[in-house]
Amino acid sequence: MGDTAILDPLSDEYRHDPAACLARARDVAPLHFLAGVGSWFVVSYREVSELFTHPSFTNDMRAWEHYRTPRPGSVAEWASNTSLFAKTGGEHTRTRRLASHAFTPAAVRRMDEQIAAVCAEHAGRIDATRGEVVDIANRFTRVIPNTVISRVMGVAPLGDDERRFRELASAPIRSANPLLADDERAAVDAAAEELVAYVRAIAEDRRRSPRDDLVTDLVAAYDADDRLSDDEVVLIIFALIAAGTDTTTFASTYGLRSLLRNRDQLALLVERPDLMPNAVLELMRYEVGAGALPRYALDDCEIAGATIRKGQAVFLSLLGAHRDPAVFTAPDRLDLERDTSDVIVFGRGPHYCLGANLAKAELAAIYRQALEIISPDSELIEDAVTYTPPSLMFTTIDALPVRI
Ligand code: HEM
Repeated sequence: MGDTAILDPLSDEYRHDPAACLARARDVAPLHFLAGVGSWFVVSYREVSELFTHPSFTNDMRAWEHYRTPRPGSVAEWASNTSLFAKTGGEHTRTRRLASHAFTPAAVRRMDEQIAAVCAEHAGRIDATRGEVVDIANRFTRVIPNTVISRVMGVAPLGDDERRFRELASAPIRSANPLLADDERAAVDAAAEELVAYVRAIAEDRRRSPRDDLVTDLVAAYDADDRLSDDEVVLIIFALIAAGTDTTTFASTYGLRSLLRNRDQLALLVERPDLMPNAVLELMRYEVGAGALPRYALDDCEIAGATIRKGQAVFLSLLGAHRDPAVFTAPDRLDLERDTSDVIVFGRGPHYCLGANLAKAELAAIYRQALEIISPDSELIEDAVTYTPPSLMFTTIDALPVRI
């Protein structure tokens, strides 16, 4: 069994080269106990893949031994008791089936148009000339996914409402982090409260006056005599925002950094745009923001020689799985032509990412637009790249300055 001495995902060393730290840990064991946070970290493909659907583990944070009940009557309490991520069995299947009305072919076509419009608007705003330094994260990858989801919801474009919605949109994903400090938890809960009130008002409006947008589709979703209540519509939208905004930002920011660090692959993508769908997956395999997804043990159990106690949290490292040489040949090489059929960046099983197709379309659009600005001659200013403080779930890039 591994331990914190071998792997510390909160260290500076890990932030700068997570793949090397994970490889060292994987050579010792697939699971490592992090004494500082009292949780397990899983670094091998086989175990990560298995734990996504293992019957002794759940996504429901209420099964965690350190779970603290949120303030009664708060949005946080309501969301943690009823969210799509926490639901299981028949209740989960029903909500997912109704939620999938948000992703009909017509809805996806509408989203494609919105993605293209938002990408073009943002590329147009980068008016720097060749040789200038542009922070691609601040000007591009951090704003596009939040703006897309805001437009998809039907929030009026380019005004104060859109700006506020974008700010609030990062609250739901942060609320899924079980290890938030008390003051961070309070700030996230306050933002979540404001977001829920905002979304509820939109849902009530669309029930009265339907429009051609995703909220109207959900309000009208109807299956075999079954329909979603306003509360459920709000929860699904909350889940879509939680799961669909920062994830895409992290993936595209790391994706562009990977391309700028591997200019032969950047040149290949410029030459062969037909590689884009595979490039989107390979870039996420290579690095997606060092993400790790929590699961909580429902029973005492043994996984690959590690004894996990009921109530303990287990973090599944996607980067650990995707750099595992047991599954990917030369895993530390970015290869846009690689076979990506074993990539599990969208999870596995009943909770498989509902927005995977939207995410892939959005990432392809972001990369296509980015290639209008950056080229194999662009230079990533490595010394000036900055990161957010480390967390077990995500390490994210704050600034990605590029001389274009
Ligand atoms: C690059 C971007 C994305 C990545 C890497 C990603 C990854 C994932 C993963 C790994 C899961 C499974 C979580 C688990 O099992 O604990 C998941 C679930 C989910 N994703 Fe995504 N996702 C992305 C974008 C999106 C987008 C754009 C949407 C929709 C707007 C979305 C909606 C969802 C929803 C609703 C779930 C929960 C499904 C359920 O519990 O049944 N995701 N995603």
